[in-house]
Formats: sequence, structure tokens, C-alpha cells
Amino acid sequence: MKALYDVASEARKNSYSPYSHQKVGAAVRANKKGQATTTIFGGCNVENSSYGACCCAEQTAIHTAVASLGPETQILEVLVITDADPAWPPCGICRQVITEFAQNPDIPIHCTNLAGKTRTQKLSELIPQAFGSDYLKK
Ligand code: THU
Repeated sequence: MKALYDVASEARKNSYSPYSHQKVGAAVRANKKGQATTTIFGGCNVENSSYGACCCAEQTAIHTAVASLGPETQILEVLVITDADPAWPPCGICRQVITEFAQNPDIPIHCTNLAGKTRTQKLSELIPQAFGSDYLKK
């Protein structure tokens, strides 16, 4: 988890957040389906004057992973870091985006803050009965 924390806190420094002034960093551990090697990708929130165009840190990190590893990308673990207490969990849209690429419904999601407090939950606890790709295959 230390490696994820370090990548996420570095990425957080690049946050573009002139509207909320909330710097958020994220890191995901990912691999290509069937490959043992995992890689950590970081991301930060990137805001926009048209607020609906803002992108959360988790989505930046996941999309960076996909851009590097391709459509077979699997996410094995996620860490989010804010300067908030309690530490922020991923928003609803991020939970849905994590669901799309999660290796399984129980991957750990670590919510941390700069003070070092961490709460870890399974993805399935954060988004029970998630709408995943399986529904579209039936
Ligand atoms: N934010 C994230 O980056 N991740 C989340 O899961 C929650 C919210 C960002 C979006 C926006 O830039 C700022 O935090 C305030 O909502």
C-alpha cells in the first residue's frame, strides 16, 4: 500500500482544482488480463470552468492505466488521497468506473488522507449490486 500511497500523493500535487481547491490524488494497481506483472498508475482531479467537465482523480488514474495497458486492463487495487478528515471515498461515478475495470467485485479501495488515516473497504461494499458488463452479455 505504501507504493500506491506514494504514487497517489505525488499525483495529487499536480491537481488542477482552481474551483473546489480540493486536491485529490489516486493510484491504481493494474495489469493486463492473464499477466502476472502489475504496474501502478497515478492520477489527479482536473477541473473545468464548465463544472460537469471536471474529472476525478480516480478516473484520471484508471484512464491512464487503460491508455498504457489497453482494453484488457484489470484494476486490482485503488487508493485515494485527500487532505480531508474523514478521508474521501470515491464518488458514485468513480465507483462505476472502477467497476468497469475491477478484476473482481471485492478489490480493496483504500481511502487515505495526508494525516495518514486509512479506511479500506471492498469495492462491493461501496457499490453493492453494481451494474457491470455482465448484464449487457445476457
Ligand atoms: N473528486 C475526486 O477527484 N474524486 C472523488 O471521488 C470525489 C471528488 C474531485 C472532483 C472535484 O475536482 C473535487 O474533488 C471536488 O468535488
